[in-house]
Amino acid sequence: MSIESLFVTQVYAARLQQADSPLNLQLLRECRQLRLDDAAGRRWSADNYPGGYTSYDSASHMQDRSPTFARLARLIDRRVREFARSLAFDVDVRRLAMTDCWVNIMPRGVAHSGHLHPLSLLSGTYYVSTPRGAAGLRLEDPRLERFMAAPPRRRTAPRALRPWVVLAAQAGRVVLFESWLRHEVPPSRGPGERISISFNYGIG
Ligand code: NI
Repeated sequence: MSIESLFVTQVYAARLQQADSPLNLQLLRECRQLRLDDAAGRRWSADNYPGGYTSYDSASHMQDRSPTFARLARLIDRRVREFARSLAFDVDVRRLAMTDCWVNIMPRGVAHSGHLHPLSLLSGTYYVSTPRGAAGLRLEDPRLERFMAAPPRRRTAPRALRPWVVLAAQAGRVVLFESWLRHEVPPSRGPGERISISFNYGIG
């Protein structure tokens, strides 16, 4: 007999740098400064990201605006190419380029409900600051709505067979996934702000 794993969903995670590296500390300063400077973003967040701040609608090409973010983008570029090869994408991976890049600041209790990133190939998040109690990233099985009469899985089921998985958020680390994969950020429980930088990649 044989049992194969077919239609696999791959998720990439790696440490890009230490949380106290000069680049990460500079990113932390710039994320906080952006919130101070970005009145339009604060207004948009008040309506669409209650309790938190995101530059998703106001400053969504940070890789073009800040040399610090551009440096981060170059580190992520390499990881994206590696991931695209692992996914066996039949494209020239050197053409994969960051198309959007924005800041998210989530104080205690702030959540971001389930969503996809349309019109992109690969998406991901880099964690700048993850104080104790900071929520992880909850990923959902894309076939969930087709399960119908399928029984639930045991609590002890291997990660690969669970209907959803939470990846811990850790400063200095990056997570990559295909843009159609539904994900959400549950509310953080601890004090302090969870700060992350999200991005999309497409064919440039
Ligand atoms: Ni997202």
